Amino acid sequence: MTANAIDLRSDTVTKPTAAMRQAIAEAEVGDDMFGEDPTVKRLERIVADMLGKEAAVYNCSGTQSNQMALRAHCQQGDEILIDESGHIVNYEAGGAAALSGVSARLIRGRGGLFDVDDLEGKIRPDNQHYCITRVVCVENTTNHGGGRIWPLAQMERVGNWAHEHGLKVHLDGARLFNAVVAAGYCARDFAEYADTVSICFSKGLGCPMGSILVGDTPTIARARRARKLFGGALRQAGMMAAAAIYALDNHIQRLKEDHDNAHVFAEVIAAIDGIRLSVADVESNLVFFEIAPELGTSAQLSAKLLQWGVKINPSGPQRLRACTHLDVTRADIFRAADMVRECVATGFTEIDGTDCAAYAAR
Ligand SMILES: Cc1ncc(COP(=O)(O)O)c(C=O)c1O
Repeated sequence: MTANAIDLRSDTVTKPTAAMRQAIAEAEVGDDMFGEDPTVKRLERIVADMLGKEAAVYNCSGTQSNQMALRAHCQQGDEILIDESGHIVNYEAGGAAALSGVSARLIRGRGGLFDVDDLEGKIRPDNQHYCITRVVCVENTTNHGGGRIWPLAQMERVGNWAHEHGLKVHLDGARLFNAVVAAGYCARDFAEYADTVSICFSKGLGCPMGSILVGDTPTIARARRARKLFGGALRQAGMMAAAAIYALDNHIQRLKEDHDNAHVFAEVIAAIDGIRLSVADVESNLVFFEIAPELGTSAQLSAKLLQWGVKINPSGPQRLRACTHLDVTRADIFRAADMVRECVATGFTEIDGTDCAAYAAR
């Protein structure tokens, strides 16, 4: 493998820029558990205002934010409604069941998106035989749904339907700003239909870590207790909150570059015989594509690409995901696409893909 591999496994692999490191170094800090970290408090206020909510709590990770939200909304034995591709139900180590005693009823949507028709009939009857349906979970952009973007009108329909039926709405907005930049709507307008929203700073926004959960004051107070319970209470976290504030100021609009790069990558590899991909479905920074089974498996292609200095993870037996981000350039994208073409042209059935076979979650 070459020294400088092009890493398209995830937007979580970005390294903080020099300017972000400077913001980290200069951050004012205090003990967040005592409510005394001024930078964390500033970040929480900024994001709560951005999303039109009363309160916010800064956390370690997107998983933690999502699980804190479920804990804050649900009682043990409750059920959530979520698309079958949802991160919360597939890639959070069974956290809903393990941490909050919550089960999931899966919705078969399209690209991770669903509508009111898909939800009709999914609320359990008010009867002692059944669990209580409590929350509808929406993911925007969808991750394993394909990086797709929820239209604002669809979110409005789903949010209104949930609220009319007495349900809460949680938005897993790990990549909400990708959706905002691509669709051109305002984060606050989208968040209006959700009771809680989680945002990740460590993905497209390029921070070393961190996530935030927003909602009304009592819900966030319950979520804050859950943060402690889950072992995620923080101390001088202002250093990381400073990175998040820097990212909100400087790294949102540039997400368009990642989307353009994803589109270019998709267009080039879609022309390769044996690669299946709908360019029109590439709406943000995630490019999912399939390799024809007669050419080999996704794990084998991933392993060969790795040898050639390109990191792209499998996300199913024939499916792979390439993710563009702050640390890849247009030139990297063309080189990576060339490598895919070369790998397919020279074949890779002799490769042992075992090491690459663990399907990427991120
Ligand atoms: C849609 C979505 N939600 C939540 C998460 C979890 O984030 P973290 O890895 O910070 O726990 C991810 C991670 O990729 C994600 O894609």
